This record gives sequence, C-alpha cells and structure tokens, in this order.
Amino acid sequence: MIRPAVVPVLTIDGPSGSGKGTVSRLVAERLGWRLLDSGALYRAVGYAAGAAGLDLSDVEAVTRCAQSTKIRFQPSTDGHDTRVLVNGHDATDELRTETAGAAASAIASIPSVRQSLVDMQLGFRRAPGLVADGRDMGTVIFPDAAHKVFLTASAAERAKRRYKQLKEKGLSVTLSGLQREIEARDARDASRAVAPLKPAADAVLVDTTGMPIDEVVAKVLAVVQS
Ligand code: DC
Repeated sequence: MIRPAVVPVLTIDGPSGSGKGTVSRLVAERLGWRLLDSGALYRAVGYAAGAAGLDLSDVEAVTRCAQSTKIRFQPSTDGHDTRVLVNGHDATDELRTETAGAAASAIASIPSVRQSLVDMQLGFRRAPGLVADGRDMGTVIFPDAAHKVFLTASAAERAKRRYKQLKEKGLSVTLSGLQREIEARDARDASRAVAPLKPAADAVLVDTTGMPIDEVVAKVLAVVQS
C-alpha cells in the first residue's frame, strides 16, 4: 500500500508578545506553507461566548458555544491581511484587544473547549506544509511535527512590543498595565492542567529579547532547513 506523504509541520509556540504571530506569518510566506493561528480560535470562542452573554466559567455553556461557533479565516480584499469571521461577523479587530486575549486565556483552560477545537486545527495540515502558531502546537496538537520552535522574550520586552502594536492600532493602553496583564495571562496559560504553555522536549528555544524580527525569522528558517 502506498502511504500518503506526511505533510511537514513547523510548530512555533511561546507566550504572548514573543513575536510568534509575526514570525509565523513571515516564515509561512517564505516557505509557501499554510498558517494556523490557533490563538485566533480561542479568541473567537471567547468573543462568541462574551457576545452571547455567557459566564466564561460556565464549563457546559462555553463548551457548547465552542462546538457551535463557526470560525472562518478569509484573506482581506487587499490581500495583505487575514480576516477572522465569527458566526459570519468580521470580528478581526475585536479579537486583537487585550480583553479578547484575557477571555481566550480563560476559556482555553477548559479541557472540553480545547478538545472541541482539535479537529479544526488538524484540518490545517495540508500540502505543501503548515506553520502552526500557539501554545501547545508542538506538545499536543502536532507532537509528530518535524520542526519545533519555542520563542521567548522577557516580559518587559513583550509588553513593549504589544504596547507599540496596540498604540499603532489607536487603542488606549498603558505599558505598566500591559505588562501586568501579560504576566497574569502567562501565569494562567503556564499553570493550567491541560496543555499548559511549555516547550516540547524536542523544541529549539529562541530568546528573541533584543533581536530584530528578520534575525528571528532567519533562525527559525534555519531550524526547518537543518
Ligand atoms: O496567541 P494568542 O495571544 O492569540 O492566544 C490567546 C490565548 O489563547 C492565550 O492566552 C492562551 C490561548 N491559547 C491556547 O491556550 N492554546 C493555543 N494553542 C493558542 C492560544
């Protein structure tokens, strides 16, 4: 029997603000591979649960919401961006806020919510390859990935990056408030019982503190090519 060729996967995990999103997008472009932004799925469920007025700690209601929420990624009309449609509504801008990040982190600690998103994530694995960005890509979703990277950076630097990004989008935030939120979210993501934020045993660790983005991209591409 001829077995179908295994589609290669590069997993890029790490905490918020480690540069994962930008690096994953640039690396996927360079390789011509598909991109999975798994954080957007958790953000979309958190957003849908909030829009439905659910209590985010109500495990059954949030799980039902995760199972029924329709999430679609769609290229923007100018082709430069990906829009995220949640139940048909373009929620891309709302999903980028720190409030959406905190809601995502809260619902992401519910095992049945994580389970309901597994098949959708596995479905992104299609030829010629996949760059998967998240917290548990190398440990839980694609443990057999050929290439695994874990990006880190100091909390102060990550807060500064998020501050710049959010300011550019015209959002009103403070640096100290952001650093506190980032540290609280990291602590919750790293301490949860299921799929905590941690490097896979076979991941290459890259500390991006003080490193320009093109250097991080070059390091990650070198992992794929090695
Ligand atoms: O990568 P991000 O900031 O968009 O992720 C938002 C939240 O979603 C993050 O705080 C934890 C959760 N998340 C997760 O639990 N597992 C993933 N693979 C991706 C995100």
